[in-house]
Amino acid sequence: MPSPPQAQELQLDASHREHEARVRAHMDARISAAGADGLEFSRFMAEALYAPGLGYYATGPGFGEQGDFITAPEVSPLFGRCVAQTCADWLEQLGAGAEILEVGAGSGALVAELLPALAASQRLPRAYRILELSPALREQQQARVAQLAPELRERVRWCDDLPEAGFVGVILGNELLDSLPAHVFRCGTPISGEESEVQLLHVYRTETGYTPGWAPAPPGIAALVRERLPADTPADYRSELGLAAEAWVERAAAGIDRGALLLFDYGFVRREFFHPQRNAGTLMCHFRHHVSADPFDRVGLQDITTHVEFTAVAEAGQRTGLECLGFTSQAHYLISAGLPGRIDAAATTRERLAQGRAVELLTSPAEMGELVKVIALGRGVSAARAGFSGRDFRGRL
Ligand SMILES: C[S@@+](CC[C@H](N)C(=O)[O-])C[C@H]1O[C@@H](n2cnc3c(N)ncnc32)[C@H](O)[C@@H]1O
Repeated sequence: MPSPPQAQELQLDASHREHEARVRAHMDARISAAGADGLEFSRFMAEALYAPGLGYYATGPGFGEQGDFITAPEVSPLFGRCVAQTCADWLEQLGAGAEILEVGAGSGALVAELLPALAASQRLPRAYRILELSPALREQQQARVAQLAPELRERVRWCDDLPEAGFVGVILGNELLDSLPAHVFRCGTPISGEESEVQLLHVYRTETGYTPGWAPAPPGIAALVRERLPADTPADYRSELGLAAEAWVERAAAGIDRGALLLFDYGFVRREFFHPQRNAGTLMCHFRHHVSADPFDRVGLQDITTHVEFTAVAEAGQRTGLECLGFTSQAHYLISAGLPGRIDAAATTRERLAQGRAVELLTSPAEMGELVKVIALGRGVSAARAGFSGRDFRGRL
């Protein structure tokens, strides 16, 4: 099989070049303001993805076949119907008044499937709130929701922040945590060495672009790295800390009075994430379905992600008293939520073939099935049967 083309081979058009130049001017100002140490990478990533009017998400990334990457709700409506079953279990436990809050709703593909499926099982939430950072994506979501039946669309409201307290319901996020800014670190000598220095990636300007450099990590971050990495971590080991993702989980968890936080993302438990052989970390960039490891290319035009360290996510929830209700792979989650039975038997052969391909993509270990994990953290509810009655990987966290 020919190897897939690398992202650097793709040509940019004039409007891309123009946008890149505006992002560059903005980023140059940020790097200059950061001083001699350069801009710490998580701040660079935040600007590249979210700077108003400039960042990748702020200007509305393309999802699906024509976009840069494809997510589970975009692969197939079957995904949303499975998530609806899990939500229905929790909404039933929580009683009237419970809500759903979807954070980072992308093109609106999930809400468009979830609400009709919940209506069909007579488990509609009182409200379906969406928290979306990107104004461009919020517009796409509004257009999508406008196509729903009136009794469904009138339940949807957009909000500007996480609830601070008193939330009763389910908070959902698919591929949200992996888009939050991460710190990139390296350990100069084996981590077990007394004098092992932990450094953070910083970004500096050059005549034509950006160049990476390393500066000593603040003591708190160095201590976290030493605590989380195994003693046999080799010298020159490089990886990431998803501190923004952990802070986000802690805030979301703190706002839940009764209910659950359900998160899907590419990622690993701690000992796999910081495995000695994963010595280049997990940072990846996507542009038109092509993958690159260079975050300094096409800044503002490409997605930048890191995988999620799920042990840290579970710990962040536990810090505010949330219990880990379930942790499994996407494949096991979907099978437990009834995915195979949702293939439409009345569909044409062509449609059934398409559904079969989608099931393969969502569940195959070589695709999203094993790499994507699902975690449920909750307070005052038990694990939803749909999704979490199959293989239980909580012991690995
Ligand atoms: C990779 S996309 C996933 C979109 C969608 N969930 C899907 O699966 O197709 C990440 C989404 O999270 C949004 N986002 C990122 N950080 C956010 C934050 N702190 N609050 C709300 N939305 C955020 C992005 O704008 C985008 O909609």
